[in-house]
Amino acid sequence: MKIAVRYCSKTQFGNTRRIAVAIAEGVGVRAVSITAKPQLEEKVDILFLGGAPYANIMAPELRDYVNSIDPAMVSKVVLFTTSNWSKRTVLALKKILKSKGISVCDEFFYAHMLKIDEKLEEAKAFGKKMIS
Ligand SMILES: Cc1cc2nc3c(=O)[nH]c(=O)nc-3n(C[C@H](O)[C@H](O)[C@H](O)COP(=O)(O)O)c2cc1C
Repeated sequence: MKIAVRYCSKTQFGNTRRIAVAIAEGVGVRAVSITAKPQLEEKVDILFLGGAPYANIMAPELRDYVNSIDPAMVSKVVLFTTSNWSKRTVLALKKILKSKGISVCDEFFYAHMLKIDEKLEEAKAFGKKMIS
């Protein structure tokens, strides 16, 4: 099974990055930041994709990245997000992905920004579960 993990993380704490790294560890791949505009080199069965809200919206670079994904390169997307209270990034990402005809798993991973440390093992297990 081909798996990729992509994330957008902007604060100095790297909350979403830390969750991405834990998920990636669970599935045995490397987590890659979307700031490098990494295109998928081969078709993946599952793309784990995560971001966070900033003043109620996702980072513009994450939106651009999602818009740039070639639907032919992804079978299914599994989303994850971190935030203070909102899970809207998941809904917003899902909307874009679905409009591109990309299948999105209903289940997603959420970690509150102040509970990242205690969510790392859970994120790792989530990754494992989603590919099993
Ligand atoms: C400028 C700024 C705006 C934010 N706006 C929101 C928001 O509208 N809703 C929310 O739930 N969290 C908000 N947060 C919290 C972030 O989504 C949260 O800290 C997230 O974990 C950041 O992820 P990152 O460290 O990967 O960038 C905001 C944080 C910052 C720094």
